[in-house]
Amino acid sequence: MVGGCRLEGRVQVTGAKNSVLKLMAAALLAEGTTTLLNVPDILDVEIMGELLRRLGCTVEHRVEASSVTIEVPATLDHRADYDLVRRMRASICVLGPLLARCQAADVALPGGDNIGSRGLDMHIEGLIRLGATAVNEHGYLIASSQGRLTGGEISLDFPSVGATETILMAAVTADGRTVIDNVAREPEIVDICEMLVAMGARVAGIGTSTLVIDGVESLHPVTHVTVADRIVAGTWAVAAAITRGDITIMGARAEHLQIALEKLVIAGARVDELPDGIRVRMDARPQAVDIVTLPYPGFPTDLQPQFIALNAIADGAALVTENLFEARFRFVQELARLGADVRTDGHHALVRGRPRLSGAPVEATDIRAGAGLVLAGLVAEGTTTIYGVSHIDRGYCGLIPDLVRLGARITRQHEPEL
Ligand code: UD1
Repeated sequence: MVGGCRLEGRVQVTGAKNSVLKLMAAALLAEGTTTLLNVPDILDVEIMGELLRRLGCTVEHRVEASSVTIEVPATLDHRADYDLVRRMRASICVLGPLLARCQAADVALPGGDNIGSRGLDMHIEGLIRLGATAVNEHGYLIASSQGRLTGGEISLDFPSVGATETILMAAVTADGRTVIDNVAREPEIVDICEMLVAMGARVAGIGTSTLVIDGVESLHPVTHVTVADRIVAGTWAVAAAITRGDITIMGARAEHLQIALEKLVIAGARVDELPDGIRVRMDARPQAVDIVTLPYPGFPTDLQPQFIALNAIADGAALVTENLFEARFRFVQELARLGADVRTDGHHALVRGRPRLSGAPVEATDIRAGAGLVLAGLVAEGTTTIYGVSHIDRGYCGLIPDLVRLGARITRQHEPEL
């Protein structure tokens, strides 16, 4: 890619990666055909589809219709193999539904993003509270229960997205009431709760820190529209600001991006909320903005690299604090290859804005690091070559054609392997 182009025009945001994968797993809870709409055309949907097929489902991903249909049989296999799970950490989200449906789940311990140690202790403790046993053997988490799970009271140490989803999906068909305190409140959690309720689950407190779940006998399949991807929307918002451009992000929901949009306004952008989207405009060099990542509704860790890129060319210095994934600053070394001035110390990064960056070869190490590098490449003088683009494919569908349409000079040299 060659930097220096102003981006202008409209983009459409599709459904959220971090929601659709969990919705696909939730489909396992009901025998019959579940249809998901507004599904992004990303590699992780293919990987999750393959995982569900191995469990016995028939899965059809219709890219032109942005839909996935999942036919769930009466009897499921309960083993999720390492060859798929290692490619995508989100595979762990089949754990709760499998345990609920089969009273057993053997799930390989996940790999996925290269952004630091990501424990499963809260997932496991939660399931044990619901009456399951869980052991770690030969690289697999082997969970089982004698008959149905039973409701219980769980207080999470930290509002983990994954642990909230695992326990929620295990609890919806447990015997009796489950109360989960200190749950994650991300829009993707609200999305899965709404789908589960449509399937017949009884879940109260949706969108708050406490979920109260009254177990039901069984769930039925539904058609559900995936919530818009706030991280993709936020990435486009930064793209407008960093290129001093003007982008209308259709389908984006401003209420899911409140703090990030406020930060862009502080940086000097104009942000307009539209009936079905957000318009972000910028006509001057951005001002540096401090960032502290926190669970929702705090500033999302998945937009942290993009804001480091913005700060790298901003006027002034910014302190960025990462509270979720310690290794997320690894990408800073790559940004430094473009001339960025970033110093890290533990959870903090000090970014001193430079008037210009200069193109260089760089490597994307995870999805969001890749997005941060693309944004930096858009403003770096000369040519930037980004390796490891398959990481970016995992979270952004049609990124390169969209960038080209908006005025970027970018081409792709190799197709990703599935
Ligand atoms: C999800 C998102 C990811 C996002 C993150 C935080 C998906 C597929 N991924 O990841 O993009 O960055 O939420 O918004 O939805 N932890 C434990 N023990 C546990 C569970 C979590 O220690 O049992 C720690 C993790 O190591 C991490 C932190 O809690 O430091 C946050 O994890 P969590 O909220 O669970 O994130 P994920 O569900 O993995």
